[in-house]
Amino acid sequence: MHTTVGIIGGGPSGLLLARLLHNAGIDSVVLESRDRAYVEQRQRAGILEQATVDVLRDAGAGERLDREGMPHDGIELRYGRRAHRVDFPALTGGRRVWVYAQTEVVKDLVALQLADGGPLLFEAEVHGVEGADTDRPVIRYTHEGREQTLTCDYVVGCDGFHGVARNAVPEGVRTTYERTYPYSWLGILADAPPVYEELIYAHSERGFALASMRSESVSRLYLQVPNGTDPADWPDERIWDELDARFALDANPEWRLKRGTVTSKAVLPMRSHVTEPMRYGRVFLAGDAAHIVPPTGAKGLNLAAADVIVLARAFAHLKDTGSADLLDAYSDTCLRRVWRAEHFSYFMTTTLHADPEQSPFETKLQLSQLDRVATSEHAAAELAENYTGLPLGPANG
Ligand code: PHB
Repeated sequence: MHTTVGIIGGGPSGLLLARLLHNAGIDSVVLESRDRAYVEQRQRAGILEQATVDVLRDAGAGERLDREGMPHDGIELRYGRRAHRVDFPALTGGRRVWVYAQTEVVKDLVALQLADGGPLLFEAEVHGVEGADTDRPVIRYTHEGREQTLTCDYVVGCDGFHGVARNAVPEGVRTTYERTYPYSWLGILADAPPVYEELIYAHSERGFALASMRSESVSRLYLQVPNGTDPADWPDERIWDELDARFALDANPEWRLKRGTVTSKAVLPMRSHVTEPMRYGRVFLAGDAAHIVPPTGAKGLNLAAADVIVLARAFAHLKDTGSADLLDAYSDTCLRRVWRAEHFSYFMTTTLHADPEQSPFETKLQLSQLDRVATSEHAAAELAENYTGLPLGPANG
């Protein structure tokens, strides 16, 4: 089999890239190692930036998002047992975010791809990419028990942090920048109405907590927990009690979360990671295959989308003009945005979490920083701009 663009990974970045290429008249094949049910069910992020929503709509994947997604015009910060709202449109010239789960984006894109896109193969396990520095890279994979090869003009690795595409960039060419954090998140889904109409990010002496949602009747809640935590040590009542304690407000001491059945419970590690460059020869890396952010800034999915938007424009430019200039600029173009998001995610994470080794001095610095956001329009605008996402730039840039 031969294709113009071989895409490794059928998560949001691989599927969005396939859709954007299809709309630009460029053929592709998507190879996904898991089955469809798994891809459509894995619980991930829930926040889409304005620019991500705009691109999904333009790509024809915005119909259910517009019906079921929940636009949000701000977030609440809680610290020192007080609440402060950050108003996104007022601070960013009208930008907002949407609550619409990654699983839903994936379902929408899978349906579109199967309806009228190029091949999307599930349970196609990729073993490696050969010939990255030739003009005919080859993807080796197993599908339906048979070893197969896909020859491509270009290969894009959208296969996540544990994927194989990154190995196509030789060790001597690759630089990795990494940071791990001394805490994880315990995340739950619960059949309970959202705590509040917007997301709440809470700094407390007991550690960080986040209240998000999936619908009017389903909450997504997170608690900072020590690394290595076993979810079995957190029976439901303990989770609800701890959430109540971390979200507590002096102004409303009677306030409690509405409790409901916990339908999923998992511990998520926190990590920052960047691999440079994001391209070697005819192999490009996108999304988690190239970079990871801790989830506190809600950047991961949006950053992955931004990568493939840049890449799709570059392939369209090549097709229309014969110029590979934008493809050649891909890694530099993306890395500027990646490092901004890395910084913002690090900032949100380290400002809101309690490091077990933290001194009282450092806690005071965190509270001072949060107070600065609450009292300075400049500081609040900096947070709002980063949270709602930096503009993607002109279509040819
Ligand atoms: C989520 O809804 O899963 C979510 C929202 C905001 C974050 C992280 C996760 O910063």
